[in-house]
Amino acid sequence: MIIREFKRPDLKRVLEIETASFDDPYPASILIDVYNLGAGFLVAQQDNMVVGYIIFWIRYEDEGHIISLAVDKKYRKKSVGNELVGYAVNIFDKCHVRDIKLEVRAGNKGARKFYKKLGFNEKEIINNYYEDGEDAVVMKKDMKKTP
Ligand SMILES: CC(C)(COP(=O)(O)OP(=O)(O)OC[C@H]1O[C@@H](n2cnc3c(N)ncnc32)[C@H](O)[C@@H]1OP(=O)(O)O)[C@@H](O)C(=O)NCCC(=O)NCCS
Repeated sequence: MIIREFKRPDLKRVLEIETASFDDPYPASILIDVYNLGAGFLVAQQDNMVVGYIIFWIRYEDEGHIISLAVDKKYRKKSVGNELVGYAVNIFDKCHVRDIKLEVRAGNKGARKFYKKLGFNEKEIINNYYEDGEDAVVMKKDMKKTP
């Protein structure tokens, strides 16, 4: 597997994975907008195909934020997500980011466990965060702590 920067021809596969992974997927226009605005956008490639991606940026001066992360269902539980987050964390580290935040649906127990294994802690609940009324759990990784 290789991790590399997103390129425009990857968009179709990214959208396929995004749509299969989320009930409220980001539309292509938003993904392209954040990319054009300079967000980090990495893809995982295996078998000559994009099998996962991560989008992230630095909010404020020193706070990293993971905007989206998803892995093709057929390639889950094979460390693809782990690798993608690891690359993003390294980039954040080089940019002297203090902590990394993300929001995850309260009902997304699998992703909550995944992020906990990667050193993220659950910090707060934001009620009615999503359009369908579901709460978000804010998770945070302190970059001074390991792993
Ligand atoms: C969350 C997600 C990105 C994880 O990707 P993945 O490639 O399957 O994860 P990995 O194989 O790298 O797993 C890393 C660790 O997390 C654990 N983990 C991964 N998914 C898990 C799940 N659903 N339930 C419990 N633990 C899980 C793995 O067992 C592994 O632990 P280990 O190191 O002890 O073996 C993937 O399930 C996904 O795309 N989900 C749908 C989209 C989503 O929820 N995105 C996150 C919200 S923004």
